[in-house]
Formats: sequence, structure tokens, C-alpha cells
Amino acid sequence: AQRREVEQLLAPLWLSRADLERVQALMRREMELGLGRESNAGSSVRMLPTYIRGTPDGTERGEFLALDLGGTNFRVLVVRVAQDGIRMASEIYVIPTAVMQGTGEALFDHIIQCIVDFQLKQNLMDQILPLGFTFSFPCQQLGLDKAVLLSWTKGFSASGCVGQDVVHLLREAARRKQHLGLKVVAVVNDTVGTMMSCAYEDPKCEIGLIVGTGTNACYMEEMENVGTVEGEQGRMCINMEWGAFGDNGCLDDFFTNFDRLVDEKTINAGKQRFEKLISGMYLGEIVRHVLLALVEKQVLFRGKSCPKLQTRDIFQTKFLSTIEMDGLALQKVRAILQDLELQASFEDSILVREVCQTVSLRAAQLCAAGLAAVVEKMRENRGLARLAVTVGVDGTLYKMHPHFSQNLQKMLGDLAPNCTVTLLQSEDGSGKGAALVAAVAWREAEP
Ligand code: BG6
Ligand code: GLC
Repeated sequence: AQRREVEQLLAPLWLSRADLERVQALMRREMELGLGRESNAGSSVRMLPTYIRGTPDGTERGEFLALDLGGTNFRVLVVRVAQDGIRMASEIYVIPTAVMQGTGEALFDHIIQCIVDFQLKQNLMDQILPLGFTFSFPCQQLGLDKAVLLSWTKGFSASGCVGQDVVHLLREAARRKQHLGLKVVAVVNDTVGTMMSCAYEDPKCEIGLIVGTGTNACYMEEMENVGTVEGEQGRMCINMEWGAFGDNGCLDDFFTNFDRLVDEKTINAGKQRFEKLISGMYLGEIVRHVLLALVEKQVLFRGKSCPKLQTRDIFQTKFLSTIEMDGLALQKVRAILQDLELQASFEDSILVREVCQTVSLRAAQLCAAGLAAVVEKMRENRGLARLAVTVGVDGTLYKMHPHFSQNLQKMLGDLAPNCTVTLLQSEDGSGKGAALVAAVAWREAEP
């Protein structure tokens, strides 16, 4: 009887093959709508042009600064691109929550301070290096170095930035701080930086995927299909902003009560609905809500109410990665729960692990459905019976979770049988990609 209760509760989180095919078809429809001439026509997937028309060809050269803002870490880097390869040095800086959610001025002033600190440390104060800016939020790009912020996502909400060109905001802050040596030449999304950086190693890489704090993808689309930019020749990289997939209601059938509870308490309720089913910022919260429901049904922790479990974000996504590790003794699971002041029996530990597996499997499968829509579209675009393509992937969840990548790969094989997809884990972040973009922009700008 207990098992029946558990299954009833978890069932809405199980997706059938038919469900996933539907998600894939919906993603495909939203992609077409987003690419359309009538600037997005109600699509929840924005399909933003990036003004990147090709991947690196190995002839890029020079020395660049790069910023990487919007993931777990804010990084400042110096990247040297030479004939014998790429060398980088970087520093991680903290962006306190108060700065993320304060004023835009304070945020960009803070960024400039970090750049200055970095330049001092690296002895780069007297040089004016071209800078590539990885800015991992949805932007309407008006050119390679002009990107208007459409909305904040993840934990950010700094005031006075939405609707503004973020390069301008950065330059203004540099002016306020009397930092004269800043030359921003390109802004890229982290998906794009990841794709570019992986494409430097593997020319087949024409897709970028992030499964980290947030989730998103970009890919090379035929210009003739991009209704929002003039010109028909060649290709352009499109930043899909797929995290917002479903914000128009098209995924409502798939949201569970747990997802609704998680969404309600975020600073952007109703927004980034697909992201909230998949990415690291939210999976732990989904698990926490499932656990609360199981306690309520008296099938977990002997039904004893646990005050700690009522605390938001107490169950972090990194616990899923640990708890799901193969061969991890249940004793260890118990210890993790003990740290949360939860007294778990062995049966409880098994059940908690099952919940984690259910939630992370759903995330990987949904991600596969999204990616399947992308690769199938690329295959059809090119009129091929089979497509072989590489996806550059980054993000803490993807890298740290013991089964996410296999689950993603397996489901992708099922949903896109005519594509051979290689998932290539990015090793050195998207700053390298931003520098490569800056290198091309710089070469083209200089006579
Ligand atoms: C990093 C990239 O490695 O991964 C960032 O350099 C990206 O640009 C990040 O945003 C995504 O992962 P997470 O887990 O830090 O959000
Ligand atoms: C969020 C952002 C998107 C970014 C993704 C991964 O979805 O809106 O721009 O690529 O997170 O970091």
C-alpha cells in the first residue's frame, strides 16, 4: 500500500516516449515561430540572432581580455591565442547576492573593480586589450558589440539594466571609475562562447549547450531561415533562450504541482519554465517539495514533520549528484540527510535516492527532447539523410551529475535516430570562446 502511495505521487514526473516526442515537436514549432519575420509571433523561444556567422578556423591570433558573467562564477580572464594554441589565466570573483539584486550601477561598478584588480595582478594595466564579454542572459543583439538586455534570469535582478545595451552599461561604469583602457569588441551568450571554444578543437561543433545554474542552447541556422536579420547567404548562430520554452503555456500539461510550488517562490515566477524543470538552480527545490509531499503522506521519515525541510534551497542540487553516485553506500545517503537534521532509516534513504533519480532523469530527458528538435532541424536544413554533429557542453549539473550525460545521450539517440551526436564537454569555460569571437571582430575592424 505504501508503494502505491509513492508511485501515485511520483507518476506525474515520469515521461513516456510519447510525452517526449510531444515536447520535441512543440520545441520545433516554437523554434520556427521564433525565427519568423513577425518578430517572434507569440513564441516562448526567442531565437535571438548573435551576428556570429561561423566558427573559428584556427587563424585567430592575439591577446584578449574576457569576462564571464552569469554562471556560478564570475571570471575575468586574459587569453592569448597563438599559432601553437591558446593560453589563459583567470581569476574568480564573487558577486554578492546584494549586488546581483541591487542597482545596475553597483553591479557594473563592481565588475569594473574586478577587472582593475585582475589587470593589476596580471600586470596588464598599461595595455589596452580588446575584450570579449560572455554575458549569459537573453539579449537582443544589434551587432557584435551591442546587446540590449531583454530580461534577467537565474538569480539576477539589478535595476535599470533591462532595455539597456550592456556594453554601454559597462563603458559607463568604466567612465565613472576613470578606467580608460577598456575596449569591448564583442558580447556573446555562454552557449555561444562554449560552442566557439569547443569548435576550436572540433570543427564539427555547431551547437552549444549549457546545463548549469540555468539551461540554454545555440546552434548554426541557415540565414535564409532567419526572418529577423537581413540577408540570405550562409549561416548565423542563434541563441535559442530555450529556458523560456513553455512561458506561453505550451508545456502546461507537463508541469506538476511540485514545479508550480518551485516556480511560485522564485523572483521570476511564470518565467523560464523549461529551465525550472532542468537546471541546477531548481532541481534540489523540486526534490525538496516531493520529499515534503511524501512526509505528508506518511511514507517518508515515518511521517514526522521536519522543520529543516521546510527551508527553501536547503536541499541543494549538488546533493542529487552525490546521492545518485553508483555504489554510494546508503549509509552515506543517511549522513547527508542527517546533516539536514533528517533522521532517515535505510528505507527512507532508498526512497530519497529514488526521488532524486526521478527528478534528474526527467531533466535529462527533457533536455534531450529539446536537443533532438535542434539536431533534426539542422539535418533537414541541410537536406541530409544523416547528420553528424558535435555539441559543446558546459555547466555544473552536466559536469558533476553521475548520470545526466548518459541519460541525455541515450534519450537523444531514441528521439533523433538519424543524427549522430557527439557531446563534447567544454574544459575551459566560455571565456575562451568570447576571446575567439573578439579575435575575429578585432581582425575585421582593424585595417
Ligand atoms: C562555465 C562557463 O564553465 O559554465 C560559463 O564559462 C557558463 O560561461 C557556466 O555560464 C555554466 O555553468 P554554471 O553551472 O556555472 O551555471
Ligand atoms: C539562462 C539565461 C541564458 C543562459 C542560460 C545558461 O537561461 O537566460 O542566456 O545561456 O541561463 O547559463
